[in-house]
Amino acid sequence: MSDSPKILVTSALIYANGPLHIGHLVEDIYTDIWVRFQRMRGRDCIFVCADDAHGTATMLRADAEGVPVDELIETLRQEHIRAYERFSVAHDYYYTTHSEENRHYTELIWKRLRDGGHTSTAQVRQFYDPEEGIFLADRYVKGTCPRCKSEGQNGDNCDNCGATYSPVDLIDPRSAISGAEPIEKESEHYFIKLGDFEEVLREWVSPERLQSDVVNKLEEWFTQGLHDWDISRDEPYFGFEIPDAPGKYFYVWVDAPIGYMAAFRKVCDERGLDFDEYWGADSPHELYHVVGKDIIYHHCLYWPAMLHGAGFRVPTSVWVHGFLTVQGQKMSKSRGTQINAATYADHLNPDYLRYYFAAKLGAGSADIDLNFEDFVLRVNSDLVGKVVNIASRSAGFLHRLFDGRLGPSLDNEELFAAAAAAGDEIAASLEGREYNKAVRRIMAVADDANRYIDERKPWEMAKDEDRREELHAILTTCVNLFRTLMVYLKPIIPATVAQAEAFLGEEGLVWASSTSPRLDHPIERYEPLVTRIDEDKVAKMIEDSKQKPAVADGKPEGRLADDPIAAEIQFDDFSKLDFRVARVVAASHVEGADKLLELRVDLGGEERTVLAGIKSAYDPEALVGRLTVVVANLAARTMRFGTSEGMVLAAGEGGEEIFLLSPDAGAEPGMRIH
Ligand code: MSP
Ligand code: ZN
Repeated sequence: MSDSPKILVTSALIYANGPLHIGHLVEDIYTDIWVRFQRMRGRDCIFVCADDAHGTATMLRADAEGVPVDELIETLRQEHIRAYERFSVAHDYYYTTHSEENRHYTELIWKRLRDGGHTSTAQVRQFYDPEEGIFLADRYVKGTCPRCKSEGQNGDNCDNCGATYSPVDLIDPRSAISGAEPIEKESEHYFIKLGDFEEVLREWVSPERLQSDVVNKLEEWFTQGLHDWDISRDEPYFGFEIPDAPGKYFYVWVDAPIGYMAAFRKVCDERGLDFDEYWGADSPHELYHVVGKDIIYHHCLYWPAMLHGAGFRVPTSVWVHGFLTVQGQKMSKSRGTQINAATYADHLNPDYLRYYFAAKLGAGSADIDLNFEDFVLRVNSDLVGKVVNIASRSAGFLHRLFDGRLGPSLDNEELFAAAAAAGDEIAASLEGREYNKAVRRIMAVADDANRYIDERKPWEMAKDEDRREELHAILTTCVNLFRTLMVYLKPIIPATVAQAEAFLGEEGLVWASSTSPRLDHPIERYEPLVTRIDEDKVAKMIEDSKQKPAVADGKPEGRLADDPIAAEIQFDDFSKLDFRVARVVAASHVEGADKLLELRVDLGGEERTVLAGIKSAYDPEALVGRLTVVVANLAARTMRFGTSEGMVLAAGEGGEEIFLLSPDAGAEPGMRIH
């Protein structure tokens, strides 16, 4: 296979301002399974990744912690590398975007785009924090919504009424960094003319290359028109300065994907590979990027445009996966469902999560859910109950009665041949990233093996001294079926399979190992490869993951430093409010709205439609049937996304920290709250 194209694979770069969590791991495991499978098939497949180090958030975090930014990003990078190792994610190199290699390629690409006439400049008016001396991105401005007048809204849209606007339209705007009143200031920005690449991009976007829902999304964006992309930020900014533009820095999303090249450059330098052979405009090799569905625009429009404009190859494909929800909801720190990779690995075997994700992941971009009951059940019944059982049931007898050696022949050649034949189907599923399908097929092979053992009952035959030869052949069949399963599972649960290889006395199982049985060989004593998950461990992991909401310490993220407290009211004011218990009878997403859910609520015989800004914390399905509290006499308000006939009550800071109020058991829809 030496002259088949070589492969370079990447997964998206994690931001260097927080720990790796199990949501990130969906992507890393998805990528790693594919890479390991390719390597087992004999393909030359390199996998690189890096930390995405630049940007305002990293700068502010270093400030807040009082550490030099270089130190902060290196500490986080080491933490990330350690977490990846625990989950057996097999990067060839894990770099940072804050590197000389990355500066080199970023400047090179920029200069080529500029010399090709694909850049421009324009004056941009933007909010500026006079206390911090820093321009404010939209998410660092808070204020009162110009439309519904609700306070503490974001700089670009209103959680309450769904209005979208520019931060300069906010009433009483404040810097979310210092709390100061921002001023408007003009400055020169640099742009990449994305529209120059429309033809190339339209051609690149095709169903042969990309998943169909991704193609549809991109078609929508083409219809909306490709606008110039603002790629500069004024100092102070943590990033690379733009050549010939003092005080101007590349926006973090410019050098982030170029970080793929920089990380690969490191591999080239280590191994003496030719960078241009992979990245040159007519490279014969394959380049795949694995990304979440939130960053399609960056990888399917900006990135191929930059590459093409600078004379490099474009990606062979971009593979988009869905998001991880936990117990049907977005991950949440306060519920303990935003679980860090390290916290998980402190409590549970990383291969369990790899197996569970594989069992759920298909080739599309559908979200996947981690449900703890299902997780425990699945691992215990599949990995423990069906797979390792086969080895543990046979190994003891082989050692007791046959000197720990596999016999010279199989008892059931057809069964072994059938298990081996399943390899093609399983390989096709893994190749096509339909891991869920592969897992189903692998478990069917395991079911066949278990049925065989149950039928042949080696534990009974072991009592009969006259049937030793037959028994030896049966046990040899069992171990070989187990070995075949280990081959198939190796890309998915590599650490477990490494232990199995030690048991089999056979290092480095490759895909082709599954076609011929291993006979007349010694095996090691069986040590339990995986054990049942104890539910207490899951509970402890969730407990360990729970974090109290951060206390405002002068550098709060995403909220005003001086949160206004409502003025005192009289009892009369209070008694004007009609709070009612309501039952959610239907809930759905609102087309086009980022924050809103549409709820149909029953107020004891009367139904209302309420729009609620709780999408970031709740899945609509999870709400149906539950009781909550509604302000029933609020005048109906018509907003951009429809009319809301009331308001549901919730606590929390917004984002995933939103907690819908519920009455105690016994309350009925329609009851008045006094
Ligand atoms: N730094 C950028 C990517 C730059 S790539 C040149 C970024 N970083 S991220 O840390 O926010 O996300 C990294 C990857 O993890 C993204 O592909 C993102 O979609 C994915 N995920 C983050 N949270 C996730 C889930 N809850 N579920 C699945 N994937 C998730 O974006
Ligand atoms: Zn509003």
